[in-house]
Amino acid sequence: MGKKGKELGGPNVDKTIELLNKAFCDEWAAFYYYGLAAKLAEGLNSPAVAEELESTAKEELEHANELADRIIELGGQPVREFSDLSKLANYPRVDLPSDFGDLEGILKAVIEAERGAIDVYNDILKELSSVTKDPITFHVIRHIMGEEVEHEDTFESILGS
Ligand SMILES: [Fe+2]
Ligand SMILES: [Fe+2]
Repeated sequence: MGKKGKELGGPNVDKTIELLNKAFCDEWAAFYYYGLAAKLAEGLNSPAVAEELESTAKEELEHANELADRIIELGGQPVREFSDLSKLANYPRVDLPSDFGDLEGILKAVIEAERGAIDVYNDILKELSSVTKDPITFHVIRHIMGEEVEHEDTFESILGS
């Protein structure tokens, strides 16, 4: 990104990059665990749950890519070592039940993960609006957070039905 564009990152750009990288790790964890749950879910209602988990996993991977793009635009580098993903994540694991026939347990774990993501992005937005004042990153995070809110709602609806 050009000089003026980089300036929009503000004086705390290193802090922003660090926060984005931690969220990047969270997105990889969600992508991994949701994909795993989609494959292993068992039981009568599992095809519908698996389908939703799979499409959500794809969106989490998109989020990871959107975060990576923004990190690079700000002059940073996405987490380089795969083994660091779980070390640096705010939420390194989704607490899936040991029994994959326990669809309710899977849904609860996913809802918990979505709530964690909403908290993380809400904190980043607060930082970006009060301290960093970086409008482009704010827009990226606001977009991702909107999708996390939809994810929570979708899985709550499935659990409630
Ligand atoms: Fe996400
Ligand atoms: Fe999500």
